[in-house]
Amino acid sequence: MRPVVLVLQPGFPAEVPYYVRGLARRGALVLGVGDMPEGALSPVTREALSAYLRVDRLFDAPSLIDALRRWDLPLKLDRVEALWEMTVDLSAEVREAFRLPGLHNTQAGWFRDKDAMRQVLERAGIRNPRFARARGIDELRAAARHVRFPLIVKPLAGAGSANTHRVDSPAALEALIPSLGGHTTFIVEEFVRGDEYTFDALSHQGEILFHSILRYRPTMLESRSQEWISPQNMVLRDLDTPLYRRAYALGRDVLRALRYPGGITHMEWFHTPEDELVFGEIAARPPGGMTGELMNRACDFDVYEAWADTVLRGRIDQRIERRYNVGMVFKRAQGQGRIAHVEGYETMRRMLGDALVRTDLLPIGAPRRDWKNTLLSDGYVILRHPDLRVATEMSSWVAENLRLYAR
Ligand SMILES: Nc1ncnc2c1ncn2[C@@H]1O[C@H](COP(=O)(O)OP(=O)(O)O)[C@@H](O)[C@H]1O
Ligand SMILES: [Mg+2]
Repeated sequence: MRPVVLVLQPGFPAEVPYYVRGLARRGALVLGVGDMPEGALSPVTREALSAYLRVDRLFDAPSLIDALRRWDLPLKLDRVEALWEMTVDLSAEVREAFRLPGLHNTQAGWFRDKDAMRQVLERAGIRNPRFARARGIDELRAAARHVRFPLIVKPLAGAGSANTHRVDSPAALEALIPSLGGHTTFIVEEFVRGDEYTFDALSHQGEILFHSILRYRPTMLESRSQEWISPQNMVLRDLDTPLYRRAYALGRDVLRALRYPGGITHMEWFHTPEDELVFGEIAARPPGGMTGELMNRACDFDVYEAWADTVLRGRIDQRIERRYNVGMVFKRAQGQGRIAHVEGYETMRRMLGDALVRTDLLPIGAPRRDWKNTLLSDGYVILRHPDLRVATEMSSWVAENLRLYAR
């Protein structure tokens, strides 16, 4: 019997179609439900789905559950999967309604609410930043006194570093307050210094089946707040080092503390100048920014199918060997308007040779993208090399010397 898997919003965001295809390729009968018209789904999604139900109000759980009950299909669901941050708690509602295994409401809440997440992890002895939850501006001031400066203010259920602010002093907090919107609930955290990494894992009942560590250079927050920076992500090859073994232990402890049943997770963590590992956050979905492709290029395998094996069978049938460090450099053009010219492209191709995996830059004449709203910015370069020092030098070169100009 083929397992029947329902995916919520199966065409979005960018890499989700490949995860959906992974399910179909690994033997599942895949159904989709979402608010996009069927014709707007990517062809990869459409080909993988056996049926698609379009609903008007995807995020209204009772109406979604009702629509699913009335959907005329001679099938019984075995699983529901969410691959997008915005559908994680929705998927838990659907699982409870249909009595299906997987992430349920309580745990989904821990993954979505940064305050609840930290409380559970704190009790499990995980090193968190000092934190406090604040509702409205008066509580925000009190939370800042408790946490102390420098600190971070962010919305409770954020994603993609939107609306995350570093605040260095009480005066800076007062200056920020008018832009915050007074009735929101915030989380205030000790500002953690140091390097930032991810820990992305396929796991089943607390056992890690595959993991990948990606280094952000500079930190996500710096990349998201300075336009001139070319953010550099690097999926690392050699994870058998003292630091990355500690990161593995942290990641596993976090998954166990949150009682994550299985699938793919995306965690962020810091390594401080005092050699401490501090938990950042974790999401019950794949990493964004095309990290799936970077993992594939690191191991010459298919992480989407490995994920499908993880959820369908609780094990991975492929042999996985890390062969490369894979770097991705995001480029932002200088100037406004349309891309006018590109500098350094031919030199880059010559220098990188076989190490160059792929480039995708906006063509001359295309309007610039809004760098605040898209991680991909005005284009990117993917490269790989077995030696981390070489891969890092190449990535730095592209960050500094490949230049896009707009006018
Ligand atoms: N307590 C903190 N100390 C230092 N940097 C932080 C802290 N919290 C968040 N950041 C920075 O802000 C970014 C976004 O915050 P995060 O908690 O990951 O929210 P989001 O859900 O928006 O990704 C992080 O990737 C990190 O660079
Ligand atoms: Mg984050």
